[in-house]
Amino acid sequence: MSAPRGQFSTKFGFIMAAAGSAVGLGNIWGFPTQTASNGGAAFVVVYFVLAFLLAYPALMAELVIGRHARANIVTALGGLSDKPAASLFGRFTGFYGVITASLILSFYTIVAGWMICYLAAAGTDLLGQDQATQWLTSMSTERNLLSSAVFAGLTLYIISSGVQDGIEKWSSRLMPALIGLLLLLIAYVLTQKGAMEGLKVYLLPDLSRVFEPTLIVSAMGQAFFSLSLGVGTMLVYGSYLSKEESLPRMGALVTVIDVGIAFTAGLLILPAMFVAQEAGITITDAAGNLIGDSDIVFQVLPPLFDSMGPAGNFVALAFFTLMTIAALTSSISMLEVPVSMTVERFNVSRPVAALVIGGSIFAISCLLIFNFGTLFGFVIDLTTKYSQPLLGVVICLYCGWIFKRHALLKELQEGQEDIAQTLFWKIWPLYVKIICPLLILAAFWLSLG
Ligand code: PHE
Repeated sequence: MSAPRGQFSTKFGFIMAAAGSAVGLGNIWGFPTQTASNGGAAFVVVYFVLAFLLAYPALMAELVIGRHARANIVTALGGLSDKPAASLFGRFTGFYGVITASLILSFYTIVAGWMICYLAAAGTDLLGQDQATQWLTSMSTERNLLSSAVFAGLTLYIISSGVQDGIEKWSSRLMPALIGLLLLLIAYVLTQKGAMEGLKVYLLPDLSRVFEPTLIVSAMGQAFFSLSLGVGTMLVYGSYLSKEESLPRMGALVTVIDVGIAFTAGLLILPAMFVAQEAGITITDAAGNLIGDSDIVFQVLPPLFDSMGPAGNFVALAFFTLMTIAALTSSISMLEVPVSMTVERFNVSRPVAALVIGGSIFAISCLLIFNFGTLFGFVIDLTTKYSQPLLGVVICLYCGWIFKRHALLKELQEGQEDIAQTLFWKIWPLYVKIICPLLILAAFWLSLG
């Protein structure tokens, strides 16, 4: 017996949920940090190209498989073929995706916890509680444990309540507010001393760097991470999407929103780094390269808010609240991956599955916190840089080679009858079958050499 499946009630609900999944720490923390550690604008250029060249086609593969199968990633990939070997490998890949989603959530919870700390710190600062503020902005293990627990609890609470009232409700409210605040902050930061230098680093690429294999692999991982790919998130969201919507259009919209917000966030963070440098914060290493430490965003934003005078605390409060919500709409989409699989395959109730899986993932977060120096960066690289694009390769291959062509066309025609005449249909099927996987593998191959 299969559990009843939820569905997004409106197109808007789906876009908000999918974009809500895509837009998160990846955009406002991951992208600027990666841009800094990879030398600035050259990374931005490569990221843009790869987001549309590799990530968008892979996103389409997930959406179309998901809506066709109306199932979680394991069942969906396993069900594309009747051949036992292909079906088994599909299920195996799906399971690897589930594990990857869970591992991503384990480090994501920690970074989201930092957002909560800075949110709380804006409050304690306002109340003049200096000791509390100091504790909240320290990097102590206790603080990380507590804030991660709060974030994990919030994620669990939302997920256990189900698709409609869970995901949609939260996703539909955040994006406009976040974009508005980002724009205001950019306008402010650009009036500050040092900002123009940051803008140059962000916007004027050193084109000699764009073919650096390590930069390409980082940008590729960042694109897959930011669009929530490879791990079954978009696949499962596709499975909740009604047959009345055009998948290529939905996918394109989500990609544009996600890339647009990442780019906008960079316009804030890179200049903010150079403004912070004016205030004495170190942003370059001994060799003069920009530092891309995982907490760099948290080092440069608070001084910026401080420089706004008394209003700064309120701006910080708004910013970190929005960031926490953005992180939540992403974290719920990650937890949905193992939860949907467990509910559908093992017939466990949603709240129980959410509690057991969420609890286990939080245990991994604790492990990362206790072994921060060795495990935190390692898990990020393992999941985002390597697993996500590699899983993307297999999903593209399954979409191109295993998914029956007439069934694929039929699925795409749902919601867009003229699909067979579009450029998308002329290019994408072959692209996803051959070119996209080859390009991803080529990038890995080059980086090995
Ligand atoms: N795309 C999310 C972000 O940018 C992270 C994410 C990765 C969400 C994988 C779901 C799955 O923050």
